Amino acid sequence: MNQAKRYYIATFGCQMNERDSEIMGQLLQESSYSATEVMEQADLIVVNTCSVREKAEQKAYSLLGRLKKLKEKNSALVIAVAGCVAQQDGQRLLNRIPHADLVIGPQKIYDLPTLLLGQKGCKTPEVRTGLSPAFAIPAFLPDVTSGSQFKRFVTIMQGCDNFCTYCVVPYTRGREISRTPGDIVAEVAHLAAAGITEVTLLGQNVNSYGLDKATGAETSDLTHFPDLLRAVAAVAGIQRLRFTTSHPKDLSEALMRCFAEIDTLCPHLHLPVQSGSNRLLKLMNRKYTVEDYLDKIARLRGIRPDIAITTDLIVGFPGETDEDFQATMALLEEVRYHGAFSFKYSDRPPARAIAFADKVAEEIKNDRLARLQKRQEEITLEWNRAYVGRTLAVMVEGCGRTTGEQWSGRAPTNHMVNFAGPSGLRPGQIIMVTISEGGPHSLRGSAVMA
Ligand code: SAH
Ligand code: SF4
Ligand code: F3S
Repeated sequence: MNQAKRYYIATFGCQMNERDSEIMGQLLQESSYSATEVMEQADLIVVNTCSVREKAEQKAYSLLGRLKKLKEKNSALVIAVAGCVAQQDGQRLLNRIPHADLVIGPQKIYDLPTLLLGQKGCKTPEVRTGLSPAFAIPAFLPDVTSGSQFKRFVTIMQGCDNFCTYCVVPYTRGREISRTPGDIVAEVAHLAAAGITEVTLLGQNVNSYGLDKATGAETSDLTHFPDLLRAVAAVAGIQRLRFTTSHPKDLSEALMRCFAEIDTLCPHLHLPVQSGSNRLLKLMNRKYTVEDYLDKIARLRGIRPDIAITTDLIVGFPGETDEDFQATMALLEEVRYHGAFSFKYSDRPPARAIAFADKVAEEIKNDRLARLQKRQEEITLEWNRAYVGRTLAVMVEGCGRTTGEQWSGRAPTNHMVNFAGPSGLRPGQIIMVTISEGGPHSLRGSAVMA
């Protein structure tokens, strides 16, 4: 009897890539492949890549380079490259990685099983990287028998129309395409029916959900994001709702009000600011000023005082002066983010900033990044300590490392909480925890005994 073929998927990049890897895994299982955790045992290796920063791309190429040895040992091994590097480099990728068999862009992942059939006996690599603004994201019900049994990601849109001048995503994921509310609600209902209680709605810019310009979908049956949130919140069984990512320019009053009006919407917003300098925001094509941004934060906190706000920041964007950088440091003090991801600018062709003058030297970027991260770590710690004495509803995720009575889970604000609790808790259960300690990366406490 033929043994089922085994697949291994390595995923880099954002949550959208993680969701795409789940979809590819499910498609493979439906075509009688089975998953393996050991790359060396796989008959098919899928590398789902990210190219948002130079480092991310290097990581993907470095793994792909190492796969050459496995291919030499086993010529039947199929190597597929998916994700944003695949889309960006297409045919060129084969010059660097001649041992790859398939190069598939983000809109082509659903073709994976068919492409694999085509691979049988044929040793010519296939490149599928079409990006069409008319692409319709297929209705596809997730497999609920494997993977997390309590929280899931649901992609609500693909692509981005914003063309921030540093960013490759509009080129790798194409124009914004929204799924229909009907498909999204059906997917969430399917998850809820299987006992999943937390969903995170995903898109590069969820605030412009339903406003797809390329297809004119605004005039079709698509609703806007606040309506979609309400529709998803109405699905019975969903206890926690989250979404990511939001562009500040599109953060509407109607969306802010959702944080007060939808009980299950968690009080956490990731609102990438990128820079605290108006001059740089303009060069970045972000379409808001620091003043607009601060005004939105103030209104949001007025509506939902306990909201945790996190952000993304770039240091060393071309032309960034000491003064610009100081403006970013001042913004940290002004907003006091609960947390921030910060990155050194890197050129991402064909994004426009590659041609911008006054590139910042690497040592200066390193120095600015270190200063920014140090200050943000202090602010994060101050926030975390401020939770001491409060009792939070924590969704159990798993067992802690030490004993059976040490648990970990997430607060509504998305803080990781480690806590002492009774034995026999199950993942997904919500339990009240009194916080006794705030550390740099997590909170610690004890379950409130009934
Ligand atoms: N769609 C999201 C984020 C996409 S990429 C948004 O609009 O906010 C995630 C983060 O990577 C960005 O927020 C930005 O901070 C960072 N990033 C993107 N391109 C970059 C580049 N060329 N160099 C450094 N950081 C970059
Ligand atoms: Fe990139 Fe800007 Fe789109 Fe975010 S909004 S994905 S940073 S172009
Ligand atoms: Fe990376 Fe593509 Fe996501 S570039 S961040 S995998 S959209």
